[in-house]
Amino acid sequence: MEKFKNVLITGGAGYVGSALIPSLLEKNYNVTVYDLYLYGNVFSHLKDHSNLTQVKADIRDKNKVLDAAENIDAIIHLACISNDPSYELDPNLGKSINYDAFFNVLDAAKKNNVKRFIYASSSSVYGIKNEENVRENVLAEPLTDYSKFKLECEKILLNFDEPNMERAVVRPATVCGYAPRLRLDLVVNILTIHALINKKIKIFGGEQLRPNINIKDMVRVYEALLSAPAKKINGQVFNAGYQNLSVNKIAELIKDTIGDPSIMFETIPTDDIRSYHINSDKIGEFLDFIPKYSIQDGIKSICKAHESRLIKDGLNNPLYHNIKLMQKVNLK
Ligand SMILES: NC(=O)c1ccc[n+]([C@@H]2O[C@H](COP(=O)([O-])OP(=O)(O)OC[C@H]3O[C@@H](n4cnc5c(N)ncnc54)[C@H](O)[C@@H]3O)[C@@H](O)[C@H]2O)c1
Repeated sequence: MEKFKNVLITGGAGYVGSALIPSLLEKNYNVTVYDLYLYGNVFSHLKDHSNLTQVKADIRDKNKVLDAAENIDAIIHLACISNDPSYELDPNLGKSINYDAFFNVLDAAKKNNVKRFIYASSSSVYGIKNEENVRENVLAEPLTDYSKFKLECEKILLNFDEPNMERAVVRPATVCGYAPRLRLDLVVNILTIHALINKKIKIFGGEQLRPNINIKDMVRVYEALLSAPAKKINGQVFNAGYQNLSVNKIAELIKDTIGDPSIMFETIPTDDIRSYHINSDKIGEFLDFIPKYSIQDGIKSICKAHESRLIKDGLNNPLYHNIKLMQKVNLK
């Protein structure tokens, strides 16, 4: 029996959540998903599952968050406007969800005596670094509001005056691979779908490093943080990445994995020189966490989903592209 059996996952119907929730249910957790379901209901086949509660609501609604956190042991806070372009589409909206509503979730946790709070930050909080090994103690210098508010929320959580609540922060690398709520706006996934459909990969720049983590390992990270003893995680920040490859190398890997020599590369110069290289040894040292799934496994999973026709109009469908969906919804 897990120590924290009742888990609330905000944003649980998103890309990461759509892989995490079925895995937690298999491990006998009682899961509450609290989400606006902006990308549809990926759990319709699980709607009668006795251990799954689904709450369709906004984290900006303080009272609903408070209610949903009743009898909850642990919260994993994933809900947010989850990339720079979607955030920048409407910065006031972005702030109201990614920053202001964070206090609602924290307050609900405190009032309901939630014992553990795990926050999904981002490795983008570091900004551009020259260090070869960007570990958790390297100064974070976020470049965008999305990343700045991620860092702010980290600080608020870690300094929050509630001694009985264990907290941990994860700074994930870019996630890759297939999940039921698929994101095709993330580097490996988008280059793979372009290679599959257009037989052409557009590379902006190319030499920049892009740290990635396979979605299956991302799920394992959250499970490790849920089940770890308090002394290993409380007050800690963990990078969560695996392979740091350049965009050029990712493109070559995709071409090799698909095995189609006709796939072309088109290199386009860019001002976006952001290059990240994160080191994720700490989570291995603290939690014995060893990544098991590679970028290539992620590419293969997208190819398989494409062949099985699980992906519908991968290049244009707003369900797979956060910015396209955010341009259509009104969240005022
Ligand atoms: N996917 C990545 O590569 C990556 C990398 C680093 C960090 N992260 C972080 O991990 C978390 C999960 O990422 P993801 O890729 O699953 O994102 P996602 O966009 O797929 O999921 C976010 C979910 O939050 C929900 N949501 C948005 N606003 C809400 C609101 N006001 N109230 C309730 N629900 C709301 C959406 O409906 C969606 O289901 C995010 O916090 C993201 O910033 C993701």
